Parts: sequence; C-alpha cells; structure tokens
Amino acid sequence: MPNLYYEAFKQSMEDPDFFWATYAKDCHWYKKWDKVLDDSNKPFYRWFTGGVVNTCYNTLDFHIKNGRGEQAALIYDSPVTNSIKTYTYTELRDLVAKFAGVLASNGVTKGDRVIIYMPMIPEAAVAMLACARIGAIHSVVFGGFAAKELATRIDDAKPKVIVSASCGIEIEKIIPYKPLLDGAIDMANSKPDVCIIVQRPMAKAEMIPGRDFDWNDEIAKAAPHDCVPVAATDPLYILYTSGTTGIPKGVVRDNGGHMVALKWSMKAVYNMDAGDVYWSASDLGWAVGHSYIVYGPLLKGCTTILFEGKPVGTPDAGVFWRIISQHKVKAMFTAPTAFRAIKRDDPEGEFIKKYDLSRFKTLFLAGERLDPATLKWSENMLNIPVIDHWWQTETGWAIVANCMGLHYFPVKPGSPTKAVPGWDLQVIGNDGKPVKAGETGALVAKLPLPPGTLPTLWQNNERFVSSYLQEFPGYYKTADAGFINSDGYVFVMSRTDDIINVAGHSLSPGAMEEVLSDHPDVAECAVLGVEDNLKGHIPLGFLVLKAGAAKSHDKIVTEVIQTVRDRIGPVAAFKKAAVVARLPKTRSGKILRGTIQKIADNKEYKVPATIDDSAILDEIKETLKGMGYAGSKK
Ligand code: COA
Ligand code: AMP
Repeated sequence: MPNLYYEAFKQSMEDPDFFWATYAKDCHWYKKWDKVLDDSNKPFYRWFTGGVVNTCYNTLDFHIKNGRGEQAALIYDSPVTNSIKTYTYTELRDLVAKFAGVLASNGVTKGDRVIIYMPMIPEAAVAMLACARIGAIHSVVFGGFAAKELATRIDDAKPKVIVSASCGIEIEKIIPYKPLLDGAIDMANSKPDVCIIVQRPMAKAEMIPGRDFDWNDEIAKAAPHDCVPVAATDPLYILYTSGTTGIPKGVVRDNGGHMVALKWSMKAVYNMDAGDVYWSASDLGWAVGHSYIVYGPLLKGCTTILFEGKPVGTPDAGVFWRIISQHKVKAMFTAPTAFRAIKRDDPEGEFIKKYDLSRFKTLFLAGERLDPATLKWSENMLNIPVIDHWWQTETGWAIVANCMGLHYFPVKPGSPTKAVPGWDLQVIGNDGKPVKAGETGALVAKLPLPPGTLPTLWQNNERFVSSYLQEFPGYYKTADAGFINSDGYVFVMSRTDDIINVAGHSLSPGAMEEVLSDHPDVAECAVLGVEDNLKGHIPLGFLVLKAGAAKSHDKIVTEVIQTVRDRIGPVAAFKKAAVVARLPKTRSGKILRGTIQKIADNKEYKVPATIDDSAILDEIKETLKGMGYAGSKK
C-alpha cells in the first residue's frame, strides 16, 4: 500500500507548483492563474497571481450548481436560546446574497473593510460570506474583547460598515454588545459610516438614528447581489492576533491560496468529503472559526455547525455528545481546554453513554498543547482517534498534523505528529544553525510558506518582516520552540516570545502590563502566564506601588483587575494579582518573568547569574505561595 502522506509530502516539496495547481483545479476560477507561486518580490511570496476568483461563489453557488442546493450547509445549534435552525446551501446563498446587497447599498465596494463584532449567531457567518461575495474585506472581532480593543482594530482596519448585534449570551448572562460598540466608536479616530445591528429579543439595542440600522429592516428591502470577481491575491479578510505589545497584528488572508489550501485540508487533514457533517466548537472571532466553521467546510460542500454555547453549563457536560449524535457529526474540532472542562464535570463520561456516537469518527484538538492526560481521557472515553494538530492564526491551517485523509500514523502523546504537506518545518538552535533530530530549538518553516498562510500584515509589510522573517533569514519564525525526532514526529513545547495561551486563546501579557502601569499607584509591574488545570495557562500580575500610595493593596488589586476587564475584555481571564515590594531583575533592569513563572509552576529554576539580588526570588516565592502557587495547593 503506498503511503499517501509521504507521496503528498514529497510532491509538495519537490514540485509545489504542480502540487497546488492540482488542487486548485477543484475550485472555480473566473480566470486561471498566470503563476502558481510568484516569487518575483521576495520575501513577499504570492500564490496564484493573475487568477480571478470569488471565495463566496466557491463556498455556496458552486455547490448549488453541482446539485447540493437542498443539502444542509449550516446548522445553528444554540442551547442558550433553546433553538436549532438549518440553512440549506440555497437558503444560505440567498441570505448571503441579500446581505451582500445590504452592504453594497450602504456604499461598501471591493476592497472596503467591514468589521463584524458579533456573538455566535448565523448572521455573523452570513456577514462574513456577504463581504467575500462583493470583494469587501471582513475583520471579525471576538465578542469577549472590550471596547478599547475593538477601537484599536477599528482604527487599524478603518471599516466603512460595522455589523453587530444587540447582545451575546454567556451561559445565562446576557452581555449587551451595543454599549461596547458605541464606546469603541467614540474612542476610535476612524468612524464607520453605518452600523447594522441584529436586534436579539433578549436585549434590544438603542439605535443611533442615521448611523445604526436594523438587520431585518435592511434585509427586507435589499436586492440580492451577485459575486464580484476578485484577484486571487486580493485580501479576503484581516484577523487580528495578539502581538507582544498592546497593538495587535492584522493577519491578512488572500482569496485564491486560502480557498485552495482549505479545501485540500478538509480531505487531507480532516478526512471529510462533501456531504459530511463537520463541527468546530470554537468562535467565529478566532482563526479556527474562520477556517473551520465557515470557509473550510463550506468550500468542501460539508454541513457545518455553528454552536452558541459552552462545553459545560449549556446545559451540561453532555452537550457535545448531544450535538454529535443529533446532527450526525463525522468529525469535530475544538481546543483541549473544552475537553478538560468536560472531564472535570463528567470524569466517568456518564453523559457519553447516553448518546449514539456511532457516526463520530475523529476528534481533532488544537489551539494549545494537548496534555497527555486529556488525550488519554478522550481516547478512552470515545474510542476513536484523537488527533492533536498545531497551527496558528497566521498560518490559517495546520503546520503539523496526523493527516487523517492521507495516512494515519500511531499517535505519540505530546506530539501533533508530522509536518503537513506544503510545510518545510525545521528546528534552528541558538547558533542559528539547524539542530540534530531530537534537539530543541526554534520551530521555523522554510520560505515560501504554502498557500493560505499570511502574505503580510494589514498595511504593515515592515512589521510582517520584523515579526516573522527577520530573525531567521529565509524562514518564517513560528515563535514556538520544540523538536523533531528521528521519525519526523514534531513536539511543540513552548512559545519563544511572551505570548500566553489562555483556554486556547493567544494573549499578550505585555498588553496587560500596559493597562496595569496606567494605574496611578503602580510604579512598575509584570504579568506572566502560570499553569492552570482548566485553561492551560492564566495570567498573573505583580505590582510594585509608588511610594506613598494611600489605597489598600486589596483595593488597588481589585481596581487593576477591573481595568484589564474593561480595557482588554473578560477573555483575558485576568483575575489574580499581588502587590510586591520589588520585582526580580537582571542587572540591566530586565524583569525575570520566566523565573517567576517557573517558581509559580513549582518547576526547577536557576538563580540567574545576572540577578541583582537573589533574596527577591524568595520574597516572590512567598507571595506566590500565598496565592496558591509555588507548590502550595491551588
Ligand atoms: N462575548 C462576551 N464575553 C465572552 C465571550 C463572548 N463571545 N466569550 C467569552 N466571554 C467571557 C466569558 O463569559 C468569561 O467571562 P467571566 O470572566 O465573566 O466568567 C470570560 O470571557 C472568559 O471566557 P472563556 O475563556 O470562555 O472561559 P470560561 O471560564 O467562561 O469557560 C471554557 C472555559 C474552557 C469552557 C471555555 O474557554 C471554552 O469553551 N473553550 C472552548 C475552546 C475554544 O473555544 N477555543 C478557541 C480556540 S479553538
Ligand atoms: P493562535 O494564533 O491564537 O491560534 O495561537 C497559536 C499558538 O497556540 C501556537 O503558536 C502555539 O503556541 C499554540 N498552539 C496551537 N496549537 C497547538 C498544539 N497543537 N500544540 C501546542 N501548541 C499549540
């Protein structure tokens, strides 16, 4: 039996043009590309230059033309509103075409930006696809971000229109979105012309006459809009991801390469065929939501599920199994943290036994390191392959995976398996040279990156180069460290920058420090990620106060926690901070965040030779113990 993985991998390395052109033929092109890989402006590689496409056409109209019009395209399953609604490909296309008409009648044309700040409701996916239909560039902002974060993204993307909703629902809490949106627009320098608001019955939004319009009213009078052909290299969307500073990075995704790579990945990585039901339990505000709730499954002609709920509490730890059974899900994708939450509430898997999961073939996990305990528990409970895979917002699809549509390799706990075809992944040591098999170093991908990955950052080629390409010339820096063993299994161990991963979301401690240091009583501060049984990591803050600070320590801690929530959002999960007399630093003044983190996680640490005064570490250890870390019970 040939090993399809090795064949595909070899071909993708030896003749990438042929490899990707083969899969590009599965998509609809108004005009075929002139060049598959265009390397005329290194290091800005482009895919399928000269090609003309429409991503929305490929996700909807293409399948209708091929006889899938009556098949379910999207199932909205919302335990928080007690509703389930199915949209066929034809119904979804008609709604998308109408909303495309709404956008066009509000002045949105090809290349204009539209921000989408919404809960997990079908209108969010409709808005994304409607932008794609008219060649507008969407930028979805996760609902758990606060007004200030939204304002930063508004100022960077400068949207003509913002699409939002009156509220989101977090288990039982109603979260009004409109005041956050209004606050963000007030703060931003760039103002949208129009806001289109989905009025949900649980909380009506106050509308600003002349600026805000009701989604339903607009749809009622809209004329459907047809697909607008765009260049394969035109941007489809911008998705912001945490940078090491407070300014997020606007990851750009193009149309042509993205469409080809995602459609290919649905079969190669996830083993999905047209007609299968695929479910990503994530949020449209994250890369997983873009790639594998909306674009990937629809490009492939699958049925996708849009889930408005949580793994536990909506109503219980059986909701995943109910959905898998009820909608006949063949494969699902979520973050390990979701499974840790289910395991915590239902350790014996009692809920699993209540449902018929016979159609469920594979569980895919990503977004953070899959700890072996969660892997084992999931395997034992479900009795199906549990597949870890590693990727990033920037890459848009998996760098390393066990490619279930090509060849299933034995799972090794701690490893997402092997580099996916298209990825020339290498490990570079401190000396800038490739290391031997099994040795740890920086995980880098040799340029050019495969299609569907970021061609640049939004209007910031310089930051793209300095963030990703400068440190290792000729390579893309993933900012993850790890090793590749002699069998080609990749182990992703930790970040090389100070980004932390909280419940599968990348967050910037630097951005939180910026908020803390704005407090009038704070002289200096540090935020770092410490281990957490549920979320993988959570941020922990340390504050050194200015001399003469009059308020109590508790009050200052409460205030900074609230300010992070108000300025970054609840998603930051910043709930713990302590006042300390001083912070450990090197003689050159660098705060030893890594050492504090090791002490907190009760790991071995060396007292750095460059430390100013090692007694500070003992003081920090005592503080951490008081907070339930450094070996004391959390
Ligand atoms: N709008 C408004 N607030 C939101 C929000 C949204 N879309 N999403 C999350 N929040 C809020 C939550 O209500 C919570 O607020 P709180 O501090 O008042 O409790 C906070 O942001 C943190 O949310 P979350 O990270 O979801 O943590 P949680 O404690 O509510 O739930 C899990 C923990 C594990 C159940 C949850 O993280 C989860 O479902 N993860 C699934 C994995 C996932 O989606 N990963 C994404 C990448 S694949
Ligand atoms: P994001 O861009 O928010 O999706 O976060 C990407 C980062 O999450 C990666 O750079 C890794 O640090 C981490 N990550 C994602 N998937 C995995 C995985 N399967 N194993 C280990 N780390 C992962």
